[in-house]
Order: sequence, then structure tokens, then C-alpha cells
Amino acid sequence: MTIVVTTPTGHVGSRVVRLLLQAGVRPRLLLRDPARLEEGTQPLVDAVTGDLTDPEYVRAGLKGARTVFWADPTPHTSADPIETSLRTAAPLFDAAQRGDVERVVFLSSVGAELRHGVGHIDALGQIEEGLNSTGVDVTHLRCGYFFTNLLSEVDSLADGVLATSADPHQVMAWVDPRDIAEVVAARLLNDDWAGQHVQGVYGPENLTFARVAEILTDVLDRPIRLQTVSDDEVRAGMREAGLPDDAIEGIVGMIAGGRGRTPQPPRDLLSTTPTTLAAWAYEHLRPLLRNR
Ligand SMILES: NC(=O)c1ccc[n+]([C@@H]2O[C@H](COP(=O)([O-])OP(=O)(O)OC[C@H]3O[C@@H](n4cnc5c(N)ncnc54)[C@H](OP(=O)(O)O)[C@@H]3O)[C@@H](O)[C@H]2O)c1
Repeated sequence: MTIVVTTPTGHVGSRVVRLLLQAGVRPRLLLRDPARLEEGTQPLVDAVTGDLTDPEYVRAGLKGARTVFWADPTPHTSADPIETSLRTAAPLFDAAQRGDVERVVFLSSVGAELRHGVGHIDALGQIEEGLNSTGVDVTHLRCGYFFTNLLSEVDSLADGVLATSADPHQVMAWVDPRDIAEVVAARLLNDDWAGQHVQGVYGPENLTFARVAEILTDVLDRPIRLQTVSDDEVRAGMREAGLPDDAIEGIVGMIAGGRGRTPQPPRDLLSTTPTTLAAWAYEHLRPLLRNR
């Protein structure tokens, strides 16, 4: 049973690889640079080097795969991000259609159920539809907002500020990518499921940004003030940084399109994972802010 893992150096993928190795599986990894794998990994995997935006490479890499973990690698900052995500996934659709791939675990997102109006997440909704239309056995994991998104806020947190364009009092599902990886690996390793499934992957509790600022204040031993910014202020900042217009709308839309919505599918036993934001921030964020 060949298991193919995309983005094996990412927050989710790297943990998926470790779990598969510990389960005694030798996965096939599609990646740009094997040197970026965790130390000791290379002899235990079949690394196929290339770029996921190259359809020939993806076609060859997926050949004979029983099960695939697919994460869309398209950076939010790409020009035309939605089109790029769909073009990148096209060889996966072809392989599923041909029967070259039998089962897919897809890293999707809360908001993908809307299909349109949620910025770059629109692409994930459309990849879900593309996979469903092939008739392949697939599990769409609709994940909450990754704790790791806070890693790009380190400079601002060092100044005591958490900025967001989200409604500060709207509850959102937040989640540790390592916990997502556990769900991914469990799904990859269980050979018995079939059909098309949607499963939420959320942390232990829904959080508002206001609550996140309180938690970070406790964990980081410094007052963290929540600063709300408008969509237009976000646009202006990104324009100044030189981002293309489509990328800007893709990023703004991910927050704007989710306003007033509760995480879907509803939280249940299967969607709830254990790591709290406080525990994650203590381990990963606090060391980065020491002495700053
Ligand atoms: N952030 C969120 O809140 C959130 C919520 C729900 C779903 N998601 C989904 O989660 C995924 C990101 O997962 P993550 O955080 O684990 O990833 P990540 O840590 O951001 O890493 C990105 C991965 O993509 C790889 N990659 C990028 N461009 C590539 C290319 N052209 N060819 C081959 N590989 C490429 C990178 O490889 P290199 O090592 O070569 O750079 C790396 O392994 C996205 O699909 C996103 O839509 C995110």
C-alpha cells in the first residue's frame, strides 16, 4: 500500500511523515528539497524531488499510489492564487479519474463548504468538488485556523500587539497542525474506509481573537493588546509590500468571507483535538519572544 505525502516539510506534513515512519510505513514523499526533511528521515522514505506546480512531475509521483495526502502548496501571496491552486491539483484529479490513485486525504479548511466568497479558501472548496467528481474515496479534513499562523506575528507580538481584521468577538476554530497530522495519519493508515467524507479538525475549544490576546498575555508574560484593522487597511499594507491584487483579495477574503459564521461542520468528538493554544504558545511562541 503506497502512501504518498505532499508538503512533507510543512507544519502538518512533517508530522505526518514521522507518524507514518513510526507506524512502520515507508512513504513516498513529493518534495522540492530532501535536505529540508527532519534529520534521519531520508533513508526511511522514497523521496521524489520536484515542484508540485509541474504536472508531469506530479503525474509520475502519483503513479501506483494507493493513498495520497494532498495539501495545496500554493502560497497566499501568489499571483492568481485560486487558479494556481486548481491548476496544481489538476494532475491529482486526472490520476484519481484514471484509478492511479484510490484514496485521498485532503487538507481543507473551515469555510471551504461555502465554495465561493472566502478568498483563497475558495480554491480548497473547488478542489473538494474536483476530487468528489472523480468518484475517488476521499476525506476532506476541514481544519480550523492554525496556531502556527501566529509565528508570522512575532515582531508585532514583541511590541505587545496582535493585529487582526477578524471580528474580535467571533468564535473561530483554532488548531495545532501537529494534531491535524495525527488525524491525517490515522486516516492514511486505516485501509478500511471508503466513500466521500467531510471531517472538521478543531482544537479543544473555539476561541475569539479577544480571548487569544488574553491567553497570549498570560503565556508570554507581557500585555498583548488586540488591534483591529479594517479590510482596506490590510489591503493598503499589502499593496505597499508589493503583493499582486489577486493575492491581496485572496488573503482579505479568507477573513472577510468567514465573518458571522460558525465553524462547519459542527464540533463533535471526531473533530476535537487536544492541544490548547496556551500549551502550544508556551512551547513554540514564548521561546521566540524571550529577550525581546
Ligand atoms: N494556515 C491555516 O490556518 C490553514 C487552515 C486550514 C487549511 N490550511 C491549509 O494548510 C496548508 C498548509 O499546510 P502547512 O501549514 O502544513 O504548510 P507550511 O508549513 O506552510 O509549508 C508549506 C509546504 O508546501 C511546500 N511547497 C510550497 N510550494 C511548493 C511547490 N511549488 N512544490 C512543492 N512543495 C511546495 C513547502 O515545501 P518547501 O519545504 O520546499 O518550502 C512546505 O512543505 C495549505 O494548503 C492551507 O490551505 C491552512
